[in-house]
Amino acid sequence: MLQVKGTEGYSAATERFMTATHKIAFQDLHQSFLKFIPTDSSNVLDVGSGIGRDAAALADMGHTVVAVEPTSEFLSAAQKLYGTSIEWINDSFPFLPSLGDRNEGFDFVLASAVWHHLDQHERRITLSRIADLLRPTGIFALSLRHDPAGVGTHIFPTDGQETVRDAERVNLKPLQVLGNQPSLVKGKRNVTWTRIVLQKI
Ligand SMILES: C[S@@+](CC[C@H](N)C(=O)[O-])C[C@H]1O[C@@H](n2cnc3c(N)ncnc32)[C@H](O)[C@@H]1O
Repeated sequence: MLQVKGTEGYSAATERFMTATHKIAFQDLHQSFLKFIPTDSSNVLDVGSGIGRDAAALADMGHTVVAVEPTSEFLSAAQKLYGTSIEWINDSFPFLPSLGDRNEGFDFVLASAVWHHLDQHERRITLSRIADLLRPTGIFALSLRHDPAGVGTHIFPTDGQETVRDAERVNLKPLQVLGNQPSLVKGKRNVTWTRIVLQKI
């Protein structure tokens, strides 16, 4: 498989990334997403799942979780940390070929801190792919990083309003758009986030 450009910088910094992000509580980081996560046991997809923290939290809530991550060092770390109750897949946006058409569909898809690794063309393909993978009324929750690069160095500026416009073109309706959200990672005061929740109509 060709190396996914968005993985640039991560492999060499697996330990550092783990130390910085492993202990962040899902309930704190994704507080604004919580009310959109199904309460019944559901099919959940986490793309760009990193070291698996969020996939594990979603599995602990009783969901059937598929976690997709293109950095193989992160995927191995995630499997060691969180085990076998999650389906771990080495794959990437925008096409997610390993998921095929997943006939049963997903109820909730998370892409936490991945959007800045995609250019606008890739983001548009990704939105269309997610719309196909979601069940009707299913939710896509994503966070958009603004400003300086972190460990991952292949990055593009993000714009929440532009993403919402692109989402509406593929029948993903915005339910929530929160700009200027702070970073929970230590020493990242200059980084802000936009947090978006979309629903398939
Ligand atoms: C900042 S990390 C976020 C990890 C995790 N979601 C979290 O919130 O801790 C960005 C992740 O996106 C992954 N990534 C980069 N390009 C990607 C792509 N095209 N498709 C899916 N994931 C990608 C990286 O390998 C990395 O794990």
